[in-house]
Amino acid sequence: MVTPTNVTADNPFVYGEIVSAAAFADREEERERLGRDLASGQKVFLISPRRYGKSSLVRDVMRGLARQKILTVEVTVAASSSYLGFLESYARALVAADTPAGRLKRWTSELLGAIHPELRFAADQSGGTKFSIGFPSVRSVRDTARVAAEVFALPARIAEARKQRLAIALDEFQAITSFDGGTVENALRAAVQDQRQVGYVFSGSEPSLMERMLGPRRPFYKAGPVMRLDKINPDDFAVFIDERFKASGVRPEAGLGEAIVDLAANVPYDVQRLAHETWDDVREAGKKAAGLDDLHVTLTRLLGEQHTVFEESWQRLTLPQRAVLRAAVIEEGRELMSADVRARHRLPGTSTIQAALAALLRQDIITKDGGRYVTVDSLYREWVARKTY
Ligand SMILES: Nc1ncnc2c1ncn2[C@@H]1O[C@H](COP(=O)(O)OP(=O)(O)OP(=O)(O)O)[C@@H](O)[C@H]1O
Ligand SMILES: [Mg+2]
Repeated sequence: MVTPTNVTADNPFVYGEIVSAAAFADREEERERLGRDLASGQKVFLISPRRYGKSSLVRDVMRGLARQKILTVEVTVAASSSYLGFLESYARALVAADTPAGRLKRWTSELLGAIHPELRFAADQSGGTKFSIGFPSVRSVRDTARVAAEVFALPARIAEARKQRLAIALDEFQAITSFDGGTVENALRAAVQDQRQVGYVFSGSEPSLMERMLGPRRPFYKAGPVMRLDKINPDDFAVFIDERFKASGVRPEAGLGEAIVDLAANVPYDVQRLAHETWDDVREAGKKAAGLDDLHVTLTRLLGEQHTVFEESWQRLTLPQRAVLRAAVIEEGRELMSADVRARHRLPGTSTIQAALAALLRQDIITKDGGRYVTVDSLYREWVARKTY
């Protein structure tokens, strides 16, 4: 590739999509451990709040495994609207893994012939053909269970037939609980536990739901190691941000990376968003350096752009919920039940506060971080701090 020297560098910060190897910060230990566990056929549970970087981590590890000739399969469970829909997309992903187009038909009937799959080929936008699998003969819950048993057994059969290990990632796995009560969990657990050649990572972004799934009396209890993905070390992340500014031709003034990480509450998505947007604004202004003033200009712009969305969210809240959210923002989520905080923010009685917190948690507006209640979206937090009373 030819790179002329006077070309404008691309924005080195990425948010809202899975980050590629180059934009990836830290996570050395997690990568190493997840890779090793999957290669040795473990069933790993990966849990974190939203936007901490689970999917990016999984993708990165899968790429590494593919280089070791392990067959990799990734499916987002939450993308399916029904149990059967999930089975169809999972079956498709398994059959298609590393299979040349010309072999798809044969391979599908070899693997799934017993449950009468229907192959569909449709033209996609890029001029290629997109292949999908359907199970049109399924009529009843029993039929679905039969298809599930076959599909869940597939990875072992593929490993056997191809003499290859597999690594399977089922992302947004908590969505499985919305399909058909407990039977999915039972069927899947029963199938995977004997598949020595197949590593699984079940990742989920609703920690409480995932933890419950792993509790005693649930099928996945003690099924494998649990990784709880933490935030990235803030000092490392700040250095990473500063270095990427520098490498892309924008000199960061002292403390910029640190301020970005801090303002973004060190949530990886929020950190990258602020860095990305600040970089854009600075470049747009034709500057060669970025400082705290620039960060604040960008923050103000972003808050302006999100104003309507935040206002709508705020107006949907009940008065006690608003009061509790505002108090949580200003008190940084601490001691919300204390007499002192209640008086200062004119909060209602403790049971009403509890109910409001529960509602805010349910709506994914706040989350618990250690003993503190923190706003999920750091921009919303700044908006509440500035625009509400
Ligand atoms: N290791 C990392 N280094 C730098 N940025 C990261 C890293 N991991 C995640 N991010 C940032 O966070 C964003 C969200 O990452 P990702 O989609 O992987 O998280 P997730 O936990 O799967 O989120 P969700 O729960 O919404 O699915 C990415 O787009 C990127 O901006
Ligand atoms: Mg994800």
